[in-house]
Order: sequence, then C-alpha cells, then structure tokens
Amino acid sequence: MKAIEHIGIAVSDLEQSIALYTALLNTPCYKTEEVDSEQVTTAFFQKGDQKIELLASTNPEGTIAKFIEKKGQGIHHIAFAVTDIKAEVQRLKAEGFVFVSEEPKRGADNKWVVFMHPKSAGGVLVELCQEIMP
Ligand code: CO
Repeated sequence: MKAIEHIGIAVSDLEQSIALYTALLNTPCYKTEEVDSEQVTTAFFQKGDQKIELLASTNPEGTIAKFIEKKGQGIHHIAFAVTDIKAEVQRLKAEGFVFVSEEPKRGADNKWVVFMHPKSAGGVLVELCQEIMP
C-alpha cells in the first residue's frame, strides 16, 4: 500500500453536496463520472495528494442508496493506492482479509478497484485502487 488515495462519502443529493464540498475545501469539483457497475455518480475534489470522492446512487436499490437508508449520509470507504492490485489482494488474503470480489473492476477516475469486506477490516469498507495505465 502506498498512501490514502481518497475518502469516499455517500451523499443523497449530488448537486447540493458538490456545492457544500466546494465551499468546505475551497476547491472546485474537477470531475463527475457515472460508474454503471456500481450504480453511482461520483464527483471528485483534489486536496493535496488526496481526493474526496462523493458518491450518489443512480438506483434506489443500489448499494449507496441502501447505505444511506441504514446509516445516513457520511463516510463510506477509505481507498488506498497500490502499485500491484492483484499482488496486494493475494498478500491481504494470506493475512486473512476477505474481499467482496477479488477480481479488480474498472472504477471511477481511471482506476482498477477492489473492495474488502468491512467485516474483515474492523467495520471499515476498504478499497484498493491502482491507476489504469494507458
Ligand atoms: Co472510491
């Protein structure tokens, strides 16, 4: 693992939250992107080397919609940048961590991503992400 790449925050109204985080961070949103596989629209803010990723559900049955239903808006996951996502999955599996899906998927902002099961990570949803090289 290299560093925290971003923190994912579940929001119910993307436009409102973009305005809120623009004011909070004093930085404009640099990108919004729909991720069909996750049924979300994402919005990104860069602050130093780290990012904030806002996640709004595009489907009332989607995981973000269900998360907000249960817990309300707020921090949803922490993402760590890795250089070799498959090797890191193998390393962490050997340490006893369980993944939601072990096969990296194409995520937002040009990344391969995998999610670890929160039950195996002390209640925190951990994402590993690796930049997709052109
Ligand atoms: Co993320």
